Parts: sequence; structure tokens; C-alpha cells
Amino acid sequence: METVGFIGIGVMGQPMALNLVEDGVPLIVWNRTAQRCEQVRAAGAEVANTPEEVFQEARVVILMMIDGASMDVVLGRGSAQFSANVAGHLVVNMGTTSPEYSAAVESDIVNAGGQYVEAPVSGSRAPAAAGQLVAMLAGADTSTVEEVRQLIRPLCRESIICGPVPSALRMKLAVNLYMISMITALAEAVQFANRHELDLTRFAAVLEAGPMDSPLARMKTKKLIDNDFEVQAAITDVLKNTRLVADAARTSGIASPLIDVCAGLYDETVDMGLGAQDMVAVIRALEARTARES
Ligand SMILES: NC(=O)c1ccc[n+]([C@@H]2O[C@H](COP(=O)([O-])OP(=O)(O)OC[C@H]3O[C@@H](n4cnc5c(N)ncnc54)[C@H](OP(=O)(O)O)[C@@H]3O)[C@@H](O)[C@H]2O)c1
Repeated sequence: METVGFIGIGVMGQPMALNLVEDGVPLIVWNRTAQRCEQVRAAGAEVANTPEEVFQEARVVILMMIDGASMDVVLGRGSAQFSANVAGHLVVNMGTTSPEYSAAVESDIVNAGGQYVEAPVSGSRAPAAAGQLVAMLAGADTSTVEEVRQLIRPLCRESIICGPVPSALRMKLAVNLYMISMITALAEAVQFANRHELDLTRFAAVLEAGPMDSPLARMKTKKLIDNDFEVQAAITDVLKNTRLVADAARTSGIASPLIDVCAGLYDETVDMGLGAQDMVAVIRALEARTARES
């Protein structure tokens, strides 16, 4: 089996790369913070010294970067290194970037003689560790998209082909709109129950017994009740995604009042110094609003 590249060994990239290695995929990885590669190295991955080394060793390179700007850094976009990196290569973008960025980078990669597939995922660190992500795939060539779908099988419960770039990222933003609104509403409901001195264990039991039950709702309800803000999806990343959704809505003239309210709350949570905490820390911004109103 040919060696595959993986760049971006972060909250999501680390368990994803680990699942590929454990499934027997020969992997070469790179991360800006080298120490984050230690677990995948111990599992058998080769650790490169530079992103260029990953492109030299692997035809297919998966990127799980935070945003478009960091993708540009590792691709060398805007420098002569870009063509050297991507020509003859298949670049797979599994991070969440704006649809416009994705379409532009696809065009540059194709012009430089490479191929590009979008494969953003739904599901946070726990589903990533369990190989239970849901991938959305988009690309110009159906057989290339199918090749990526087969490659990322160990990471996914399901993968859904959406059409040409950037339809997978647009799908991801639509799904994020629902997920972010839902978890923010859950945090508001926990605060509401708390302020009414309701028993939160019973609150969780009612939710679990009812039609709104889901693995995500269970996990986030438990974190909210336990005040466990260990990161699954960081507040700063959720704010970034909230802005991507709001921008896409504005560009297309779509009303998005729920995500606009969420953007304000995640912004306030960052201002409270909680940017590196899990998204459930948004409850602190809700509590601060309560304190201001009382
Ligand atoms: N967490 C989630 O629940 C979740 C779920 C679905 C999708 N996503 C998306 O998946 C992507 C990754 O998220 P994550 O939670 O894994 O974030 P993360 O832990 O912050 O990882 C982001 C990666 O980008 C790298 N990076 C950032 N800026 C860089 C730069 N200037 N140069 C080189 N590398 C840079 C980081 O390197 P360092 O280690 O050196 O910082 C890290 O490897 C994001 O687009 C996010 O929106 C996240």
C-alpha cells in the first residue's frame, strides 16, 4: 500500500491519523508543533521535518488544518514551492474552510497539475477517536472522490458525496448551523434549569428519554453538568465556524438570526479568555448576560 501524507495533527487530526495508522495505512505526518506527533509516531507513523517532505514522500496528502491561511502555509501557496508540492498530487482538505477559499485553492492546484477533493467532517474529537465521523465529499472527478472515500473509511461511520467543490463545504456549513444552534440552546437550557434549582441529573434523564436524545446531546449535557470544559471543539474554532456560516448566509442574502446570536455569544466567550475551552464553555457567556440583567 502506498504511503499517505497527513498534515495537521491537532485535536481532530491526531485521532484521525492514529486510526489510519492502526488500520495499516503507511503514514507520513507533519505538524507545526512537533510534540503533537508523538502519539502517531509511537503507533508507527513516520514524522517529517517539513510539509515539503510529506509531499515528496506521498502522492495523496490529507490536510486537517485550522483554516485556509494555515493550509496556504503548508501548501506553500503563493510561492514557487506550491507547484513543486501539488503537481501530480491529490490534496484532500478535511478541515473546515470557507467554500470560496476551497474553490480558489482547487483552481490553483488543478492549474499546477494536481487534484483536489474536499472532505470536511461532522463529529468532534470523541467520534474522531471512535472512527465515527461523517464525511462530506466533493471533487471534480468521481473516481478520485471514490478513491478518497475508500482511504478515509477507517475514520468514518458514513461518507456522503455532495457534488463538485465547494458543495461539501456548503453542506458542512449547513450542518454546522444546526449543530452550533443546538448545542448553544442546550447550554442555555442547562443555565435555565440551574437557575430554577432543578435537579440536573433528572434534566439529563428527561432529555435522554425523549426525542431530542443523541450521542452529541448526551456528551455535551454531561460536560455542562460536570463543568468539564476539556476541549472537544474549541470555542475559537466554533466562533470561526459560526462566522463562516454567517458570512455564507450574508453572501447569499439568507436570513440567519440563530447563528447571528450564537456568533455574539461565542465572541463574548472568547473575550472572557475561554477560547481554548470546549464549546460548552459558552454557558459562561450566558451566565454573564444573566448577571448583567439581574
Ligand atoms: N474539533 C472539532 O470538533 C471539529 C469537528 C469537525 C471539523 N473541525 C475542523 O477541523 C479543522 C481542525 O480542527 P481541530 O479541532 O483539530 O483544530 P486544532 O487542534 O487547532 O488543529 C489545527 C491544526 O492546524 C495547525 N495550524 C494552525 N495554524 C497553523 C499555521 N499557521 N501553520 C501551520 N499549522 C497551523 C495546528 O498546528 P499546531 O498543533 O502547531 O497548533 C493544528 O495541527 C478545523 O478546520 C475545524 O473547524 C473541527
